[in-house]
Amino acid sequence: LTKRLSDYQPYPFELEMVRLDFRLDPDATQVRARMAMRPLRAASALELDGEGLVLRKIAVDGRVLAASEYTQSDTGLVIHAAALPAQTFTLETEVEIAPAANTALEGLYMSNGMYCTQCEAEGFRKITYYPDRPDVMARFHVTVAGDAPVLLSNGNPVAQETGRAEWVDPWPKPAYLFALVAGDLVAHSGSFTTMSGREVALNIWVRKGDETRCAFALEALKRSMTWDEQVYGREYDLDIFNIVAVDDFNMGAMENKGLNIFNSKWVLASPETATDSDYERIEGIIAHEYFHNWTGNRITCRDWFQLCLKEGLTVYRDQSFTADMRLGPVKRIEDVSALRARQFREDRGPLSHPPRPDHYKEINNFYTATVYEKGAEIVGMLRQLVGPQGYRDALDLYFERHDGQACTIEDWLKVFEDSSGRDLRQFKHWYTDAGTPRLQVSDDFKDGTYTLEFTQKTDQTPGQGDKPARHIPIAVGLLSDTGADLIETKILEMTEPRQSFVFEGLSQRPVPSILRGFSAPVVLEFDTGHPPDSAFLLAHDSDPFNRWEAGRRLALQTVVAMAQGGAADPSYVAAIGALIKDGAADPAFCALCLALPSEDQIAQALHEAGKSPDPVAIHRAREALATALANAHEDALSALYDAMAVSGPYRPDPEPAGQRSLRLAALALLRRIDGGARAQALFDAADNMTESLAALGQVVAAGVGEAALATFRDRWQGDRLVMDKWFAIQLTASAPDQALSRAEKLVQDPLFDWKNPNRFRSLMSGFAANHAGFHRVDGAGYRFYADWLLRLDPLNPQVAARMSTAFETWARYDLTRQSLMRAELARIAQTEGLSRDLSEMSARMLG
Ligand code: ARG
Ligand code: ZN
Repeated sequence: LTKRLSDYQPYPFELEMVRLDFRLDPDATQVRARMAMRPLRAASALELDGEGLVLRKIAVDGRVLAASEYTQSDTGLVIHAAALPAQTFTLETEVEIAPAANTALEGLYMSNGMYCTQCEAEGFRKITYYPDRPDVMARFHVTVAGDAPVLLSNGNPVAQETGRAEWVDPWPKPAYLFALVAGDLVAHSGSFTTMSGREVALNIWVRKGDETRCAFALEALKRSMTWDEQVYGREYDLDIFNIVAVDDFNMGAMENKGLNIFNSKWVLASPETATDSDYERIEGIIAHEYFHNWTGNRITCRDWFQLCLKEGLTVYRDQSFTADMRLGPVKRIEDVSALRARQFREDRGPLSHPPRPDHYKEINNFYTATVYEKGAEIVGMLRQLVGPQGYRDALDLYFERHDGQACTIEDWLKVFEDSSGRDLRQFKHWYTDAGTPRLQVSDDFKDGTYTLEFTQKTDQTPGQGDKPARHIPIAVGLLSDTGADLIETKILEMTEPRQSFVFEGLSQRPVPSILRGFSAPVVLEFDTGHPPDSAFLLAHDSDPFNRWEAGRRLALQTVVAMAQGGAADPSYVAAIGALIKDGAADPAFCALCLALPSEDQIAQALHEAGKSPDPVAIHRAREALATALANAHEDALSALYDAMAVSGPYRPDPEPAGQRSLRLAALALLRRIDGGARAQALFDAADNMTESLAALGQVVAAGVGEAALATFRDRWQGDRLVMDKWFAIQLTASAPDQALSRAEKLVQDPLFDWKNPNRFRSLMSGFAANHAGFHRVDGAGYRFYADWLLRLDPLNPQVAARMSTAFETWARYDLTRQSLMRAELARIAQTEGLSRDLSEMSARMLG
C-alpha cells in the first residue's frame, strides 16, 4: 500500500484536548482515552488509527456505541458519520495492550523491567485509537498508575503520589511526541535559568548505578539551552526537562516534548567507558533532541513526507552547535566525510530518493542520510544564499509565522522568499529531486582574465529521469603561486546547466580553490586539461576544508591506482611527510589528513571511474599505502606519537581529544611496521576508553589481538555499552579472511543478546563494515548477514529493514558478487510473512 504526497487531505476534526489514563501492567496495560472532537466538515466519518489493540469500550458523549455504528480493521477503526453529533463531542475508548510482548520496540514496550515508549513516526497507534498523524495536534493530560517508583510523561507534573502521577502538557502536539516512562529510576539533576529568568528543572533518569555517568550529558544540555537562546533566540517553554536513558532502543534518541528518550549509548559517559568521539556524539545528540523543541515540536510537520523540514533543520542546528563548541573546520570535515560515506552511497544506489520523498510504503524506512544529512546541507546552502543575517531574519520569521503549526517545505521556502526577496523556485529542486549532482569544472587564463566554466549533471535515479539544473552555491577562492589569497572566498551562484564565471585584472594564472567548505553536496570533477595541484593546495589553501580535501583527493587517486596494480604516488607520500612535520597544523586537523579513505569509499571511487571494485585488491592497496607512509616517515611518526601523549587525568575537551586523535592516527600507521608493539603497550597502559579501544583495534588488525580481546572481555563483561564496542571492533579490525569465522563464533557468545538492537548492530554492522570480509567472493558473508536479518525481522522489523542497506551497493561489484547479493535480496523478498519494512527495502534494492 503506497502512500502519496499528492493524496494529502486535512483531517476533518479538530482535537481540542485529550486525556489519557494508563493502568500499567506488563501483560495487560489498560489505556483509557477521552478526546474532545470538533467536526470541521459536516457528516464526516471519524477515522482513527490503531494496531494490535484490544478494544474494551467505545462511547460518544457517554453513550456506548453499538457494533453497527463503527467498523474495525487491522489498522484502525471508523465511526460512521451517523453515529456522531454535529457539534463538539467527547469520544471515549478503552483498550488493552501488552508491553512485555512488544519486541518491535515501537509503541509502549518494556526494557529491563522499565516501561517506555517510542511513537515516531506511527507508534502511537499501538497505544490507543487515535488520529496518528502529525497535523492533528492536541493538548495532552496524562495520568499514569502503576507500581513503579518513577512515572513520567510529557509537560509539567501536576500531581505525584505513590503509584500515580499526573502530567499536563500545555503545548498542543502531535501524537508522535507523546512519551511515557515508568520504572525504578534515579535522576542526575540540575537546573537552568532561561533568558527571561524562568527556572527549569533538569533531570537525566537512569538505572541505579548509572547516575555517575550523566554529568557530561547534563552539562551538554545546559550548553545547548544557552546556545539556542543566543544563536536562535529560542527559549525553553516548560518547568521541567527530562531525559531518560534506555538500553533497548531502535534509534539514537527521540525528542518527545519535555521527555526526551535516549539510547543509553548516547547519554552515559565516563572516561573509562566512553571514547572521545562518543563524548562528541553525546553532546551533539543531546543538542539535536533539545533543538527539536522548537524545530519539530513547536513547529512540526504537516505529514511525514515533510520529515526533512524538522530533521534537516535540526541536524543543521546541531552541526552548527558542535562547530561552535569545538573546532569548526574539523567538525565540517567530519560531517562531509559522513555525508559522503552514507548519503552519497545511498544516492548512488537503488535506494536513492529526494530529501522530500513523494511516496513510501513504510515511513520508518525514510529516516535516512538523505532526509537528515542532505536535508542539513540544503539548510546550509540556503544560509549561504541569503547570508548570516538573512538567515537569522528568515528563521525569526519562521518561528513567528508558524509557531504552533504543522508545516511543509513550501512554507519553509516561502519564509526565505518573503524575508530575503529571493526567488527560490529553482532552489526547491534540492528538496524534490533525488541524486547527487556532478559538477565538472574547467578553467582558462588569458590577458589577466581567469575563467571558470562549470557543467552540472544529475544522473537518473529510481523513478526520476532527466533532472533540471539546480541552483548551486559554489564557494571559490583564488590563490597565487606562493599560496597567498588573490581573491578571497566568493559565492558563485550557478543556475544554468553550463555556466562561466570571470575574474579580471589578475597578474598571474591563479590556483583555484573550488567548493570551499563543501558549499554544496555535489561531486566535483576536474577537467583533465588543468587539474589543480592537490599537493600545493594541501600545503597552502587558506580554506581548511579544501586543504583536507586536496589531501583526500591525492589519497584516493593513489589508492585507486594501487588497487589496479599501480604504486604509491611519491608526491602524496611527500605531502603527508610535510604535514606531519608542520608543527603549526592543528592536531585534530592533521589526524583527519592522515586517515586514509575507507575501503567502502575506495570501492565507490572505483565504481564512479567505471571500474568494478575488487574488495581484496582494495584492502591490499589500502594496507600497502599505509605501509608506504609508515616506512617513509617512521621517525617523524614515532616522534609525533610520543609528542602527542596527553598527560594528566582524562578530559574529553577538544584540545586533548585532538591530540589523542593525532597520536592514534600515527599509531595506526606505525602498526604496519611495528607489528602492533606500540599498540600493545598502549593497550596495557591506557586509563581511558579512547586509547584502550583504538589500541585494541590495532592489535587485532596486526593479528596479535587474542590476549587483549580476552583481557578486555574479562574486564568489561558486565558493561553493556563497552561490550558493544568489543563485539564491533574485532569484526571491523580483523583480517578480511577471518571476519566471517569470527562473526560466526561471536553469535555463539552468551553475551550476544541478539534481541537488543545495540548488540545486534554492533556485531552485524561491524561485520558488514569489514568490506572485504563481507564481500567474500563465495557469498558466505552475504548469506550469514541475510540469515540474521530474516531472524530479526519478525521481532523487530525496523532494525532489520534499516540494516538491510548493507546490500544497497550491489550494483557496484562484479557480476559474481552482484548475483550473490541479489540472490540474498530475492530470498529475503520472497520470505513468507516478511514485515512491510523489510519487504519495501528488499523490493527497492532489487529495483
Ligand atoms: N526524531 C528522532 C530524531 O531525529 C528520530 C526518530 C526515528 N524514528 C524512526 N522511526 N526511525 O532524533
Ligand atoms: Zn531529529
